[in-house]
Amino acid sequence: MSNLAIHGGEPVRKEPYPAWPVHDERDIEAVTAVIRSGRWGGYPYPGPQTAEFARRFAEMQGGGYAVPMANGTVTMEVALRAVGIGWGDEVIVPAYTFQATAAAPMAAGAIPVIVDIDPETYCMDPKAVEAAITPKTRAIIPVHLGAQMSDMDALMDIAERHNLIVIEDCAHAHGAKWRGRGAGTIGHFGSFSLQSSKILSTGEGGVLLCRTPELATRVASIIDCGRPHDEAEQMFTMGANFRMAEIQAALGNVAVERFPEQTRQRDEMAAYMDEALSDIPGVRVLKRNPRHTTRAVYRYIFAIDPAVFGAEHGPVCAALTAEGIPCWEGYEAMHHYELFQPHLSKLPVPSAFPERFQFEQMDLPEAERACEHEAVWLDESVFRAGPQGVDDAVAAIRKIQEHAAELR
Ligand SMILES: Cc1ncc(COP(=O)(O)O)c(C=O)c1O
Repeated sequence: MSNLAIHGGEPVRKEPYPAWPVHDERDIEAVTAVIRSGRWGGYPYPGPQTAEFARRFAEMQGGGYAVPMANGTVTMEVALRAVGIGWGDEVIVPAYTFQATAAAPMAAGAIPVIVDIDPETYCMDPKAVEAAITPKTRAIIPVHLGAQMSDMDALMDIAERHNLIVIEDCAHAHGAKWRGRGAGTIGHFGSFSLQSSKILSTGEGGVLLCRTPELATRVASIIDCGRPHDEAEQMFTMGANFRMAEIQAALGNVAVERFPEQTRQRDEMAAYMDEALSDIPGVRVLKRNPRHTTRAVYRYIFAIDPAVFGAEHGPVCAALTAEGIPCWEGYEAMHHYELFQPHLSKLPVPSAFPERFQFEQMDLPEAERACEHEAVWLDESVFRAGPQGVDDAVAAIRKIQEHAAELR
C-alpha cells in the first residue's frame, strides 16, 4: 500500500483552502450603486470611483500618483511610452517572470534584454543587469516575485549611474515594503495587476504608480485615447483606450479596505512557513533580504533538491496537489518561451532585430535551474488559512520527502 496520495494513499489535507477572491455584501452594494448611477465605464476618465480608487491605492502602497487602467501589462507599456522609450531601445528584464514583463517592452517597440536571477531570491540579479547595459539601454523592469523583492538599493544605484528608468513589476507585490517603502514607489513607476487571482483584485485591471504628477498626467492621456489631461496641453497624444471601468474601481475601493489585514496575516504566516520548512531535508527556503520589511504573498516559492525528493519539481508539485496543497512548478524561463521567436511571433520588434532574439543561444543557469528543476510555488490561500494551513502544507512536503522512493 502506497503512502502518497498521488498513488492512492490518504491525503494530508481533505478540507479545501479558502477560495479567492473573497467578497461580501460591501462588494455587492458598491457594484449595485455604480449600476444604479448609470456611470459604468471609464469615460470620461477618471470617473468618481476610479479617482477615489487611485487615491486609496497610492495611500495604501505608501506613495506615488496612481493611474488605474485595464491590466498589469499595459501599465508597463504605457510607462515606457510616457518617458519616450520605444523603437530599438533596450529594456532589461529578468528571466524568471510572466511573459507580460517582456511583452510590454515589445509592444512599445523596445527590445527586452533577458538577464539571470539571483539564486537566493529568484529575483533579477543586479550584477547581471550591470553586465547587460549597452549604450541603448533605457530601462530596467525588476519583478518582485515569489514573496521576495528585488534588491532595490542595488538596482536604483545602477539606474542612477546609467541614467535608466526603473519600472517595478509589482504584479505579485501589493503591500510589500523595502526598508519601509512600498513596492512600486521606489522606481520611477510601479506596475500592478489586479486580475482575479491577484492579492488585490478588481476582476481585471491594473494600476500604474508614477513618481511625479507630471508623469501621471502623461500616462492618463495615453490610456484615454490620447486626450489631453493637462490643462495647458490641448494636443492629442498617441494613445488608446486602456481605461479602468467604474464597476471595477468600485470593487477596488472595497478590496483596499480588507487588504491591510490580509497582508498582515500572509506576512506573518510566511515567516512561520520559512521556519517550518527549514528543517526538511532537500528543501531550500529563499533568502529574505533583511531590508525587505513587509512581505506580500501571492505565490510563496521555495526550492527542492530533486536528488533528495526522488523527482524534479513537476512530479513533486503533482504529489503535493494530491495531498490537498495548491501549488505549481511556476513559470518557464523567459528565454525558453517560443512566443518570442521572430518566426513565430511575427511581431515587428523580433522581426526587425532578430540578432537580439537568439534566445536559444542564451545561457542563464540560475533561471534554468529554478524553472526546470527546483522551484515549488505555493498558493496564497495556504497563508490565509491560519497556522493550520501552513502546518498542513509543511506536513505534506515532509511526507513527500520521507517517501521519496515512491516518487522515483
Ligand atoms: C509578474 C507579472 N507581471 C505582469 C502580469 C500581467 O498582469 P495582467 O494579467 O493584469 O496583464 C502578471 C500577470 O499574471 C504577472 O504575473
